[in-house]
Amino acid sequence: MLPHRTFTSITRRLAHLLGHFSRDLGIDLGTANTLVHVKGRGIMLREPSVVAVDSHTRQVLAVGEDAKRMVGRTPAQIRAVRPLRDGVIADFDTTEAMLHHFIEKVLTRRFLEHPRVVIGVPSGITEVERRAVEEAARRAGAWSALVIDEPMAAAIGAGMPVGEPVGSMIVDIGGGTTEVAVISLGGICSERSVRVAGEEMDEAIVAYVRHELNLYIGESTAEDVKIRIGSAFPLAQEMEMTIRGKDLVSGLPKSVVLTSQQVREAIREPLGIVVELVKETLDETPPELAADVMNRGIMLAGGVALLRGLDQLISAETDVPVYVAEDPLTAVVIGTARYLEELDGFPMAR
Ligand SMILES: Nc1ncnc2c1ncn2[C@@H]1O[C@H](COP(=O)(O)OP(=O)(O)OP(=O)(O)O)[C@@H](O)[C@H]1O
Ligand SMILES: [Mg+2]
Repeated sequence: MLPHRTFTSITRRLAHLLGHFSRDLGIDLGTANTLVHVKGRGIMLREPSVVAVDSHTRQVLAVGEDAKRMVGRTPAQIRAVRPLRDGVIADFDTTEAMLHHFIEKVLTRRFLEHPRVVIGVPSGITEVERRAVEEAARRAGAWSALVIDEPMAAAIGAGMPVGEPVGSMIVDIGGGTTEVAVISLGGICSERSVRVAGEEMDEAIVAYVRHELNLYIGESTAEDVKIRIGSAFPLAQEMEMTIRGKDLVSGLPKSVVLTSQQVREAIREPLGIVVELVKETLDETPPELAADVMNRGIMLAGGVALLRGLDQLISAETDVPVYVAEDPLTAVVIGTARYLEELDGFPMAR
């Protein structure tokens, strides 16, 4: 039998060799969307974080885009699950199945490739869940896996100088969670998160339309409304759109016109929570770092950063300049990829 040290050294060399065939993977495991970046190739996968499961056999039937198409159109025993609802892992087995599916999908030579994987996860998940996500990635073929906090990844991806001794504030507003963090010298100095983000806004629109217009609409219609005419601040040119739903009284299909002012009113509460969170985090930030943030501004990332006038609203409420990341929807995954580049030369522990 080989002495232990020789064995370790052989496996290390083998891993090094395999590394030549492998490409590092950066993954944004989001509540709404999962993105995978492959080193040297770019973002190779961008799919909704949805899994279709047979509720009798618990068998996974479809993942991602295919599963999302089934939402609301499935026979009774097929359930479309969002394993990361509200920014926490609601269902671990399906999260693992989803991660496994997405990793396999981007690996072309599965038996030869054993990539290093860095996964951005909501900072609200527990230590046990972090370990479990890393383990799931290894079971899916990763040689090594590491999870990093979404706000850190988002800040790196948005090009903020996270390694420098200056305070950088990032606000990542995704589907399930809003996370605010002040980063300096590669670490998070103050941080707050709340389970209120894009999905909560969709729900608020559904509720508003029901109460104010007696019309029943689904969450995907509400999301469409939010994206097409939603805003956080009065618009120079207000907008409107026609939506279709079910009349609450007659039960029949009906169309109504919805204005951007009404949508702004509908999402006032979740927007207020986001603004409060930013203010509270600024309040808790040590004075030197807070001064940096006031001078350098706040960066917005995550899908909701695209909401019209959100930068204006936060800036008006905090008196701090606010910027939107160049591509808010990809900031986290780009951040994981850059993090991996930084790791080059430092072998990641298994
Ligand atoms: N143009 C837009 N305007 C407003 N909201 C948008 C726009 N585009 C996407 N969104 C919203 O952004 C959210 C998804 O953002 P993102 O992909 O960053 O979330 P995630 O990373 O999956 O979630 P989380 O970070 O909470 O785990 C959805 O609620 C979506 O409706
Ligand atoms: Mg996200």
